[in-house]
Amino acid sequence: MSRFPVDYLDRKPLGRSGEFVSAIGLGTWGIKDEERARTALIHAVELGMNLVDTAEMYGNGRAEEFVGRVIREVGRESVFVTTKLYPHRFRDPERAVKAAESSLRRLGIRHVDLVLIHWPDDLAPIRAQIRSLEAIAEHGLTRYIGLSNFSLRQIKEAIESTTKFEIVVNQVKYSILDRSIERDLLSFCIDLGITIMAYSPLEKGAIVNARIARELASRYSKTPVQIALNYLISRPRVVAIPKAERVEHVEELKESMGWRLRPEDIELVEKSSY
Ligand SMILES: NC(=O)c1ccc[n+]([C@@H]2O[C@H](COP(=O)([O-])OP(=O)(O)OC[C@H]3O[C@@H](n4cnc5c(N)ncnc54)[C@H](OP(=O)(O)O)[C@@H]3O)[C@@H](O)[C@H]2O)c1
Repeated sequence: MSRFPVDYLDRKPLGRSGEFVSAIGLGTWGIKDEERARTALIHAVELGMNLVDTAEMYGNGRAEEFVGRVIREVGRESVFVTTKLYPHRFRDPERAVKAAESSLRRLGIRHVDLVLIHWPDDLAPIRAQIRSLEAIAEHGLTRYIGLSNFSLRQIKEAIESTTKFEIVVNQVKYSILDRSIERDLLSFCIDLGITIMAYSPLEKGAIVNARIARELASRYSKTPVQIALNYLISRPRVVAIPKAERVEHVEELKESMGWRLRPEDIELVEKSSY
């Protein structure tokens, strides 16, 4: 039997904040055609996929500007905006606040919903990075704070370093082809009520050829992409942020929700090797 109970929610709790976000959100890394992407993202928000992930790094700020344009069309309250700042910004609070202000200018909003340290900085103590992260929240520039690419050891240290705000998210790589977080990080986050935001959940599109996903797809009359995402969101506390800039892809992503793989098929994925 799987170690993890099946989670049937399509709106998932954000940390222990009492707030909920869609189980499937959209990433914005590597957008090729902004006009096409704009139509796709607006459609996603209209379909209720309200979680949008971006970063100052993506397209050197262009992705944040792109998200800003979409926000102006759909309305600020329709989108849960997550952005990520470069690790070196968190070496001191003043620098972090300035970087957050620049992101907000590009996004054209007064605060984001969630700001993350894009990956841990080797050159600064985690305690100092968390102080700087909290400074962004203290200035009212974000509602929530979180991490990305933090290991179990690093996330433990980060939690111990918080003073006023809780870490609500760790954004990490997680797909049916890369289940390494199932070793220890996932259970830790489930136990502590930290949301896992699964990035590259489609392995940049390669998931369509994954044997187990194709096999299950024919049995469920779903697509391999839908099987792959459904597996991830069947985990408690896990949301996934695939990137899609085509409306037909967005529609396919939406149908990853509203149903669940049977527990025995979740186990099949767990046992599969590639
Ligand atoms: N924190 C971090 O360090 C980190 C690292 C990597 C990524 N991320 C975040 O996670 C997001 C997603 O990861 P990712 O961009 O690496 O890749 P991904 O989501 O694994 O894959 C994106 C690719 O899958 C294609 N796709 C989307 N829906 C599809 C469908 N229904 N059928 C077939 N193909 C489909 C997309 O095509 P189209 O675009 O043409 O629709 C795109 O080429 C990023 O955009 C970013 O926001 C974070």
